[in-house]
Amino acid sequence: MSDWTIGIIGGSGLYAIDALEDPQWIAVQSPWGDPSDEILCGTIGHVRVRFLPRHGRGHRIAPSTLDSRANIDALKRAGCTDILAVSAVGSLSEELAPGRFVTVDQFIDNTKGRPSSFFGDGFVAHVSMADPVCDRLSRHAAKAVAAAGGECTEGATYLAMEGPQFSTRAESRLYRHWGAEVIGMTGMPEARLAREAELPYALLAMVTDYDCWRDETEAVDVGQVLDRMQDNARLARETIEAFCKALPRKRTPSPIDHALDNAVVTAPEARD
Ligand code: ADE
Repeated sequence: MSDWTIGIIGGSGLYAIDALEDPQWIAVQSPWGDPSDEILCGTIGHVRVRFLPRHGRGHRIAPSTLDSRANIDALKRAGCTDILAVSAVGSLSEELAPGRFVTVDQFIDNTKGRPSSFFGDGFVAHVSMADPVCDRLSRHAAKAVAAAGGECTEGATYLAMEGPQFSTRAESRLYRHWGAEVIGMTGMPEARLAREAELPYALLAMVTDYDCWRDETEAVDVGQVLDRMQDNARLARETIEAFCKALPRKRTPSPIDHALDNAVVTAPEARD
């Protein structure tokens, strides 16, 4: 076995991975709350894999009520060294047609009041979010999509909205003006929390629709998203398999492994 333990957070339509060897669902407790589900543990090739369905098996948990702190904490406790998140997104860009995969490299967080930090209650830390994803994981994910036979655009700005309703046409056009290229409901605060947990994080987005900014296309509805996710689920599973199998045996350290080194403000004598 190599020294990678990859946490996979599966989005809508991705509730298990069939390529896992020795699969076992394991309950992981977190003091932050209830993770979305048990974690499916196993191996793919030389890599340990810990898979968490973001919305729970059967899709029981809405984006606004997801406990991302519990999810990230549970993956950390399950020994993850890195996280690959997979999500359905709407496209805000002509070039990103439904069916395409995209690696996200920036976020605009327009969620409202979700708990988005592990810090602040007697212990203050400010991590950098300037570059919110892990470059090497993202590049690796894009290559894995190609190896699985899909098409992937590298680098896109993700607008995280609160939901659960989809956007109005005016909002959708506004987000395009802001420079957002894809839109989803779950990438934030997940990416922030992964950084605070010192877990390198990449977000592989699967475009399911053109949201509602495009006059010549029907506005998004949940049927479109689920149909497209179903079409792409096989490709997503093969991408995850290719991703794990192509990781080098040796995991060289990432600067994100030490994201808190210069981030903590609270004086040592004031910490519990
Ligand atoms: N997830 C998939 N498509 C979406 C859209 N258009 N808006 C928000 N989240 C989405």
